[in-house]
Amino acid sequence: MTQPMFTKAIVRRPARSLVHGITTHPELGRPDYDLALRQHDAYVRALERCGLAVRVLPALEEFPDSCFVEDVAVCTKRFATITRPATVSRSGEIAGVRALLAEYYDDIDEIREPGTLEGGDVMMVGDEFFVGLSSRTNAEGAAQFIAALNRRGFSGRGVTMPPTLHLKTGCSYMEDDVLLVDRAFASYPEFSRFKRVDVALAEAYAANCLRVNDYVIVPSGHPGVAASLRELGMETIELDMSEFRKIDGGLSCLSLRF
Ligand code: GLY
Repeated sequence: MTQPMFTKAIVRRPARSLVHGITTHPELGRPDYDLALRQHDAYVRALERCGLAVRVLPALEEFPDSCFVEDVAVCTKRFATITRPATVSRSGEIAGVRALLAEYYDDIDEIREPGTLEGGDVMMVGDEFFVGLSSRTNAEGAAQFIAALNRRGFSGRGVTMPPTLHLKTGCSYMEDDVLLVDRAFASYPEFSRFKRVDVALAEAYAANCLRVNDYVIVPSGHPGVAASLRELGMETIELDMSEFRKIDGGLSCLSLRF
């Protein structure tokens, strides 16, 4: 890749309260905080290996899910949007986000009540954005965001969701026209134009991979997905995400990239 996709990332250290993060998989147990910190360190090193300057924000103990910083903003090439998370326990995570983004962007939009939008529902494909209409992102939030995109020369479209947390829980754009999709999205007409890499049910968690410049970061333990991406000529970095997975967090959730 001659021109890097991204040069910067923002992450937030996991809080001790992470053990109380929202989860739809209680059967996986509670995260081990010390292991989560080590996994987070490895994540930061991986982003640096991809060529990003990483800004690490301090933990916010009052917000168990706050390490999933992707959900509080959407960073594009031309502007940033402060989102409006749908869950009460996450809504306070946006405090201070405007001041933070103002260090990087002159143009900052925001989602207003009654709209809700979480960054995990926004998938960037060049100048086009897909917005999952999930339990976290409502039609009003998506419409506000798409209008903000249109005002800056981007396009956006809503995607009806299967019962999946966020859009990027179930699909990830790998650049070069390649879309990683789990079975829930396999027949979506919105995605028919892409070269699709179908993710087997047993590896569904790896539908959330992260393309950053010349690398794709893949959660370890998903050899089928990693092999499929390597067969397409992509260089992979595998990271153990076990502790974040326990609270429904994937690779993309842990950073804002721009
Ligand atoms: N635990 C991540 C979320 O539910 O937003």
